Amino acid sequence: MEIVHDPRETRRHLDSLRSAGRTVGFAPTMGALHDGHRSLMETASARCDVGVASIFVNPLQFAPDEDLDSYPRTLDADARLAEEAGIDVLFVPSARDMYPEPIWTTVSLRVVTEPWEGADRPTHFAGVATVVTKLFNIVGPCAAFFGEKDFQQLAMIRRMVFDLNQPVDVVGMPTIREPDGLAMSSRNRRLVPAHRREASVLHRALTKGAGTIESGERDPAAVEAVIRAELGTTKHAEDPDYVAVVDANSLAVPESLRGEIRLLTAVRFGNVRLIDNIGVSVPA
Ligand code: PAJ
Repeated sequence: MEIVHDPRETRRHLDSLRSAGRTVGFAPTMGALHDGHRSLMETASARCDVGVASIFVNPLQFAPDEDLDSYPRTLDADARLAEEAGIDVLFVPSARDMYPEPIWTTVSLRVVTEPWEGADRPTHFAGVATVVTKLFNIVGPCAAFFGEKDFQQLAMIRRMVFDLNQPVDVVGMPTIREPDGLAMSSRNRRLVPAHRREASVLHRALTKGAGTIESGERDPAAVEAVIRAELGTTKHAEDPDYVAVVDANSLAVPESLRGEIRLLTAVRFGNVRLIDNIGVSVPA
């Protein structure tokens, strides 16, 4: 595995591989890698000739009061994991490589970024859309692998690629979980033991909500109430930032549930904010 820091060198190298007929699979990350990231990297390497991953903790997507400075940075372990996962080129730019000048150009999307995560974090998605656009320009035409764990981010990136004709095939990958159901996240390691024990309630509550849809419930408010009630069985998750039962494409709450539905929630355990979601297909 080669580790590259310079954006232009990365693009030149991948362009020359593409001109020799090789396909590129790309998994962008912010490091502190776990088995969720590993599955994106393994799939990118397996499905494409050249596996590329990036590690960059993007300041643009953190608000001033968020955890940019305390975000875990574990480059040596990350490089080992990426290599084990079959990655050929690991792009690890510095903040200076990515933002040599204060940035004047940003990418922001309407509609899909407005509710849920966007309501709580008004600058977050423009920060993600801008850095992902830069990463796509640096890596060049590729298949890019994103986790369903960050479902609203995935929906935004699909729409951005569509709206801007970016030469990228976006592939969504299932959420990898701990044995108790907690979705793997770089932030889990910051949970204190009492919060870690309770954190499995997110997946349990969403699964319960999905179960009511599978049993015939079609009212999103009723499903939301079931999810909130289950979250309320714990001490620390009783006041979630949001619980949403939405159409999987628009992320809007429909009047009645049909087609592809997504159940989303965000819960704060102390100063650690966890998000999770699951999908349900409503039979026609
Ligand atoms: P990060 O949080 O490091 O996540 C990188 C990728 O890993 C994202 O596509 C995310 O959805 C996926 N991922 C995280 N946890 C996962 C899990 N448990 N199962 C499956 N996939 C999982 O998301 C970002 O970084 C950044 O916003 C980024 C896109 C890199 C832009 O800065």
